[in-house]
Amino acid sequence: MANYNLKINGADHSVDVAPDTPILWVLRDHVNLVGTKYGCGIAQCGACTVHLDGVAIRSCNVPISTVGNKSITTIEGLSEKGDHPVQKAWLEHDVPQCGYCQAGQIMNAAALLKDNPNPYDDDIENSMQGNICRCGTYTRIKAAIKTAASM
Ligand code: FES
Ligand code: FES
Repeated sequence: MANYNLKINGADHSVDVAPDTPILWVLRDHVNLVGTKYGCGIAQCGACTVHLDGVAIRSCNVPISTVGNKSITTIEGLSEKGDHPVQKAWLEHDVPQCGYCQAGQIMNAAALLKDNPNPYDDDIENSMQGNICRCGTYTRIKAAIKTAASM
């Protein structure tokens, strides 16, 4: 076990966990931020996507020992009132079906738009292709990202 002082969604958290504990399980089991979901555990589905210093990462596959001073942002911290452009566009397009993949989709889309505020279709497809949705909401996701980009 080791102690880690983490900055998560702008707040300080101290946790005692094994160094190889994935960020996902620190968030869910030690900080009670359960919006980030477990899908595959092998960086293949995107359900666990969070931001590390603004960069989208697969939190199931990144050990807590590698975080250092970087800030973690989860779906709970993306915006104060759920009014990030991506969240507003998601509502406008009624994107989610079961919802399980959607925190990861939104976090990945938000990181995409931060890097590329006016993405072409190809950019969206390339950036989002690692985020799997078993309900097949891809068409609405793409439309919502375009709407968010226009906000
Ligand atoms: S749970 Fe992390 S990518 Fe699937
Ligand atoms: S909304 Fe059900 S898995 Fe994506």
